[in-house]
Amino acid sequence: MNLKAIIFSSVIALTSVTSASAADALGETPEQKAKRMEWFGDAKLGIFIHWGPYSKGETSESWAFHNGHISLADYMKQADAFTAANYDPEYWAKLIKESGAKYTVITTKHHDGFALWDTKAGDVSSVKSSPAKRDVIGPFADAIRKQGDIKLGFYFSLIDWPRKDYPQTYRDKAPKYDIKADPKKWQHFLDFNNAQLTELSTTWNPDLYWFDGDWEHSAEEWKAADIVRMLHKYNPNVIVNSRIQGYGDYETPELGVPVTRPNSQWWETCMTSNDSWGYRIADKNFKSSKTVIKMLADCIGMGGNLLLDIGPRADGTIPEEQVKILQDLGRWTKKHSEAIYGTRAGIPAGHVQAYTALNKTGDILYLFLPYTPNEAVELKGLKSYIKKARVVGTDKELTWNLYNDVSWGVAAGCYYINVPAEVCDPDMTVIALELEEPVKLYSGAGQVMTFNDMESEDKKKN
Ligand code: GLC
Repeated sequence: MNLKAIIFSSVIALTSVTSASAADALGETPEQKAKRMEWFGDAKLGIFIHWGPYSKGETSESWAFHNGHISLADYMKQADAFTAANYDPEYWAKLIKESGAKYTVITTKHHDGFALWDTKAGDVSSVKSSPAKRDVIGPFADAIRKQGDIKLGFYFSLIDWPRKDYPQTYRDKAPKYDIKADPKKWQHFLDFNNAQLTELSTTWNPDLYWFDGDWEHSAEEWKAADIVRMLHKYNPNVIVNSRIQGYGDYETPELGVPVTRPNSQWWETCMTSNDSWGYRIADKNFKSSKTVIKMLADCIGMGGNLLLDIGPRADGTIPEEQVKILQDLGRWTKKHSEAIYGTRAGIPAGHVQAYTALNKTGDILYLFLPYTPNEAVELKGLKSYIKKARVVGTDKELTWNLYNDVSWGVAAGCYYINVPAEVCDPDMTVIALELEEPVKLYSGAGQVMTFNDMESEDKKKN
């Protein structure tokens, strides 16, 4: 095998493999799309918010009635607890900012059809169907915008199970009607969704739409391309997630950091902070802050974002466990910002026991260590020489040993970077390796040396 073929740079430009996309619907060039996606690719951390009738804390969001655990009537009655009495959007926005997130996505309407703003298009909303009697999206949008550098995203369920003009009903029940037999009724529903999207876009001009529930219909049935075109008419820079039958801009793996890197250049893992999207009194299975930080580093290492969910209570307070996770994230992201924002996927697995990332020019390799090393961190197959090793977020420099770096060998020498316990971060240490050139790797299976020349090597060094 050709040597060049096995030494490869990790700064690989991946192209999206989705068949249809927002870019196609818009007639956008790859360069135009890359420009539009820039902030998203740099953001790395977003905060997801699920808030609605389910926030009373007794059932899961929407799925509870869909799956027959509660009647639709009893499910919707939970909205009686939706007072938003202690809702403090300024505090929410500050907390999101403090976490280090660069964007946020809030549920404007889940599959239950309960709109969290004063929609004129329908009758089910926080204004008309709950004691809160008010729009809760506007104050949040304003508070986020006041922070200046946080992008605003709206979750919007395409599905609206309770509506009469929405054909699908709850599990194990026949659809209410057949779209093909009654296209007018279906169009009535699409018009309703479009009217709501128009309200959201023209009132708050979100930076991102996070669709959900596309799986119940095809792109043609949703008229997905038209929806995307309409949203771009309102905001030419808007970003749309993948859940719109192929017309989105980025992939959204859910509840589990992927093992291999998703195909799309842009992606985001959405993740609960316990096991539920919305507030649930019984769910105390919160992830530790360290675990969330590991997940974030894992996403960063594969070139993606983490969209971490919180579920405020119906009164607007945020569970203490989630507040703590956001604050702990904040301490860590602030200290390590250089290795987080604007970085790109790191080197392939196998070279080092760490999550890795690269700066945009590829000549700083970041190692995120999910452990405290025993003496040194081994780094194999690095062909580019290290100029400087340092602990990110501190003024500490590190020493290293390079072994068996012989000019006649195909493999690279092996680095052992000395990381004393006292320089380690309590949550996750990050090491920056400044390289003499953009990263070059050897990732092969090694060789038998049929030639050795230590004397020439000595001469070169002296
Ligand atoms: C899902 C669910 C939903 C949740 C969401 C978040 O697929 O239907 O309840 O809001 O995705 O990612």
